Amino acid sequence: MDKEITQIQIGTARVILVQGDITEQGTHAIVNAANSGLMGGGGVDGAIHRKGGPDILNECKIIRESLPDGLPTGDAVVTTGGRLRAEHVIHTVGPIWSGGGTGEPELLARAYRNSLALALKMGFRSISFPSISTGAYGYPIEKASRIALGSVIEFLEKNKGIDEIRFVLHSTHDLRVYEDALKELA
Ligand code: APR
Repeated sequence: MDKEITQIQIGTARVILVQGDITEQGTHAIVNAANSGLMGGGGVDGAIHRKGGPDILNECKIIRESLPDGLPTGDAVVTTGGRLRAEHVIHTVGPIWSGGGTGEPELLARAYRNSLALALKMGFRSISFPSISTGAYGYPIEKASRIALGSVIEFLEKNKGIDEIRFVLHSTHDLRVYEDALKELA
């Protein structure tokens, strides 16, 4: 069961931090922390494909036909949610952390912004994010959380149409880091 801990209101939108499993979220869309290949992986990617079933991968394969070099870091595409509660999955690719000097902060912000822009374009009123890049891609979560929340808040201040944005953290530790970041930004 999710523990809804912290939330803030930005205009007509609510930003909510929860501890839980992103594949269980009932928002209109959930965001996958994918890789450029879009053929699945571990972590969030593995959980989404495992629980969502083959329809998600089949749509990823069709998308890949138009992206011979793969999905660029920071870009976002949408597929069905398959067997998930969420109707759609937005796949985005976060940056791999390599010390912070190769544009990682801006690429991470782009992944959040482009996912939100795509959700808005598709008419999705609610969306769930994982903590992109802070697992296998090694992005320090203290830094990533401030970029994640900062870019989402900035987007909501400029754009109407999304009612609820959830950050679904997989551990109490990660939730605490995001809570501290939100206190700094709110
Ligand atoms: N629900 C919510 N959060 C989750 C879940 C889940 N079911 N599973 C893992 N997480 C958390 C991790 O603890 C981490 O904080 O999501 C965050 C992102 O971790 P990863 O899934 O490893 O994603 P990322 O760091 O962006 O690396 C992406 O890993 O799985 C592969 O194919 C993927 O190559 C890509 C890379």
